[in-house]
Amino acid sequence: MEFIVLDHAEAIAQKAADAIEELLASKPNAVLGTATGSSPLPLYDELAARCAAGRISFAGVTGFMLDEYVGLPEGHPERYATFMERNLRSRVDMRPGALHGPDALAEDLEAACAAYEEQMRAAGYCDLQILGIGTDGHIGFNEPGGPLDSRTHVGVLAEQTRRDNARFFDGDVDAVPTHCLTQGLATIMEARKLVLIATGRNKAEAIAQLIEGEVSADWPATVMQRHSDALVLVDPEAASLLSR
Ligand code: F6R
Repeated sequence: MEFIVLDHAEAIAQKAADAIEELLASKPNAVLGTATGSSPLPLYDELAARCAAGRISFAGVTGFMLDEYVGLPEGHPERYATFMERNLRSRVDMRPGALHGPDALAEDLEAACAAYEEQMRAAGYCDLQILGIGTDGHIGFNEPGGPLDSRTHVGVLAEQTRRDNARFFDGDVDAVPTHCLTQGLATIMEARKLVLIATGRNKAEAIAQLIEGEVSADWPATVMQRHSDALVLVDPEAASLLSR
């Protein structure tokens, strides 16, 4: 893993955008994995700016979201499909319909997971996967205790994650869905490159485990230690519990 501490979120966004710009220069029809949540927002701002300036184009890009909440209706502002449309797809020249997510509105959620995994497999999985990390060490919505070799599945959100995400639901933890569909850890690991972004003191324990801990289902992101091309970008607060 390559691990870089940068002074602030904008510098992290630039570094992550550089990796995406480099990918798109060599492969305009790349497959990009996208994350939701607050961590990648400065990156999406930077990608929109570079696209507006003509530096990069997403016209040939196919996107795959990491995860989706179960139980939020079509068009709900916190549905991850809505989030990605608002924060990235509509701000760049990516074709409508080119950014896919698991179908959490399906009647048969297990079948929807299998279909999403197959869609990703058929696309050759992601060239580059953008990741955030939960305070409990989740990536995607792979919560502690799950298998390290999982594929796209129905997940149960940890109480900690629901408390963390209540800030997107007017502070009401009961409004945060209990279930999700998420790429599994093995699905995420299929990506040729992983770029993880973490900012803030509340990510420090998860980052210390990711960088200095053993690979363990207790801290799911640690599986990234087994990836051959993983880049971890953090600010000084997120790096503050590293001992070395
Ligand atoms: C989002 C996702 C999650 C978030 C993580 C951090 O699609 O899969 O793993 O990346 O919960 O969220 P933020 O960035 O809001 O702290």
